[in-house]
Amino acid sequence: MSIISPHGGVLINRWIQEKEVKELNGSIEIDAMALSDLELIANGAYSPLTGFLNEENYYSVVDRLRLADGTPWSIPITLPISEEKAEELQPKDYYKLIHNGIVYGVIEVEEVFKPDKVKEAENVYLTTEQEHPGVKKLFDRPDFYVAGDIQLFRKPEKQHDDRFYLEPVESRESFEQLGWEKVVGFQTRNPVHRAHEYIQKAALETVDGLFLNPLVGETKSDDIPSDVRMKSYQVLINHYYPDNRVVLAVFGAAMRYAGPREAIFHAIVRKNFGCSHFIVGRDHAGVGDYYGTYDAQKIFSHFEKDELVITPLFFEHSFYCNSCEAMVSHKTCPHDSENHVILSGTKVRELLRNGEKPPKTFSRPEIAEVLIEGLKEQTSVKS
Ligand code: ADX
Repeated sequence: MSIISPHGGVLINRWIQEKEVKELNGSIEIDAMALSDLELIANGAYSPLTGFLNEENYYSVVDRLRLADGTPWSIPITLPISEEKAEELQPKDYYKLIHNGIVYGVIEVEEVFKPDKVKEAENVYLTTEQEHPGVKKLFDRPDFYVAGDIQLFRKPEKQHDDRFYLEPVESRESFEQLGWEKVVGFQTRNPVHRAHEYIQKAALETVDGLFLNPLVGETKSDDIPSDVRMKSYQVLINHYYPDNRVVLAVFGAAMRYAGPREAIFHAIVRKNFGCSHFIVGRDHAGVGDYYGTYDAQKIFSHFEKDELVITPLFFEHSFYCNSCEAMVSHKTCPHDSENHVILSGTKVRELLRNGEKPPKTFSRPEIAEVLIEGLKEQTSVKS
C-alpha cells in the first residue's frame, strides 16, 4: 500500500524549537490570514513551499500557474508589509513574526518587492472589482511583499476540538492505519447539504475513504461560522455515514474565493494531506457570478495528469428530484426543473436565520437543527 507522494516529492516541515532561533534583527507584524498560511507552510500542507514567495516565483505563479521551477502552483502565498517596514528589512537577516503580540516564528528575509496587485487580481481572481471578497482582501492588505523561508516554534491557538487538527503527517498516518490508499478529499466552506452528501457518497462508492476537510480560516461575513459548521459535520457523519469511512479534520486556510485557481490550490493541498482524489463540483470556491459553473473543473486540463497526480473527480450540479425520488443531476434525471429542489445559499441562510428548516430533500433535518441553534446563539452573542 502506498499513499500519494506530497507535491514536489517531499513533505516540508518547518517546525523548530524556540531555542534554535538565530539572532534576530527585529519583527514583522502579520495578519490572521498570514498566520494561517504560516502554519500551513510549517506543517507541510503547502509543500513544496518553505516560505513566502519571492518575486520570481510570485510572477511565475501569477502568469503561468507554476513556481519558477515549473511545479504547478496557482495561488500566490505572500506576506504583505507596509512601505516603512519594507525600507527597514535587510536581506539575509532574521525577523520575528508577530500576531496580536505573540511571536510564532521567524522569517529569513530573502527580498522585499512591490507586487503588481492589479495583475494579481486580473490573473488570479479574473476581476479587479473590489466587490469580490478576495480582491477586496488583496487590496486591503499592505502594498509590499516580503519573501523568505520561515520557521515556526508556536502553533496558533485552536478554535475547535483538538482531535480535528491533523497535520499532513498525521492525516497520512490515519489513512495508513485505516488501510486507505484511495482517499477522496472534500473542501467546503458551507454546511453539508444533501447535494454535498450525494457527491461525497458517489465518490465513496469507488474509493477507500473520505477526508472531509472543511475550511475554517477567514471567510466572508455571511458564510456560516466554522464552529456551527463543525457541529453540523459531526452530526451528519454520526447519522448518515458508516463508521470508519470518514476522517474529519479542519483546514486552516483563509478562503480566497478565487474559483478555478483556488480549486487547483485546494487539490494540491489535499494531495499533501494524503488524498489521491479530490472532489470539484459546481462553482467550486466561487462567489457571486464571477466564474462559470464548471470553470473550476475546466482549469484542470491546463496540467498534465502526472503534474498534479491527484485525480480530480468532477460532479455536475446535483439536487433532489421529486419524480425520481432521489438525488440526481442533469446527467441522470430526465424530468423538468419544476421537479427539482434547488435553493440558493441566500434563501437557505434566510430560512435558517428565521428558525425554519429547509425541506428534507435539501438538508437533513438533524443538520438544519444544528444550524438553526448555532445561528441563534451567534445572534444572541452579538446582540
Ligand atoms: S466551496 O467554496 O468550499 O467550494 P461549498 O462548500 O459550497 O463551497 O462546496 C464544496 C464542494 O461541493 C465544491 O467542490 C463544490 O463545487 C461542490 N458543490 C456544492 N454544491 C453542489 C451541488 N449542488 N452540486 C454539485 N456540487 C456541489
